Amino acid sequence: MHHQFDTTTEHSQPIVPLDNDNSIDLKNKQIIDEEKDEASTAPMCKELKEFTQELEDCFKEGEGKVNPEHVKQIFRKYLDKIDLSDLEAYCLADTRATYTRNLIFKNPYFSLIVLAWNPQQHSSIHSHAGSQCWFRCMRGQVKECRWMIDPTHDQSLCPSEPTKEFIANVNSIGYIDDNNGVHCIVNTRDEISVTLHCYAPPYDSCACYSEETGEVYRGKVMFDSIGGVIDTSHPSKESVVSSTISKIEKFLIM
Ligand SMILES: [Fe+2]
Repeated sequence: MHHQFDTTTEHSQPIVPLDNDNSIDLKNKQIIDEEKDEASTAPMCKELKEFTQELEDCFKEGEGKVNPEHVKQIFRKYLDKIDLSDLEAYCLADTRATYTRNLIFKNPYFSLIVLAWNPQQHSSIHSHAGSQCWFRCMRGQVKECRWMIDPTHDQSLCPSEPTKEFIANVNSIGYIDDNNGVHCIVNTRDEISVTLHCYAPPYDSCACYSEETGEVYRGKVMFDSIGGVIDTSHPSKESVVSSTISKIEKFLIM
């Protein structure tokens, strides 16, 4: 299997070389402002609030790394209580992008993010900056391709073939941290797929791996929408946003 990876990561669009603090913002997007971190502008349904609270309690109690299975259990508890319609406010898709990042909630312990994957698109290979990452497929199907390298030590290029693949259908739950290697997410469908991600703790950037150039680079975390509101903080985004970002229901029957 050969991947035609682009420079887009699951976590970011702006790409800068490692060890370079002077960021080159390739897509002219901005990192979430600190003052926007806590609030979710769109009102959460009761079940989503409870889910978020249970996650927060778990991460607070864990004081750092938690047993991945504990969080998976929380995800499983809400499989029947939360469906795509409960995330409707955050189901935005940018037709120009490979995928769209929609922040539901973020605090110092974790972030909750809806990712909308355009048909047959994928992220770049990336690490998770020492954080833990859980995801649940909400619509469609995605494939996780994993490479067993340690991003904290191994700065070399990933092998061309992934060492593991995981097909996530609706309600499949996945987990990764840097000890499990690095991965990319592929939308296998000819329609938009949607995944719900939890990152603990949130992070601003991660290592990404370019198959084409052999380079390891740093991708910055950014969001296309925050709390259900499209982030129009950059002028170029503002000028095109109305025609390129729409609710997924415009493209799909939810
Ligand atoms: Fe990831």
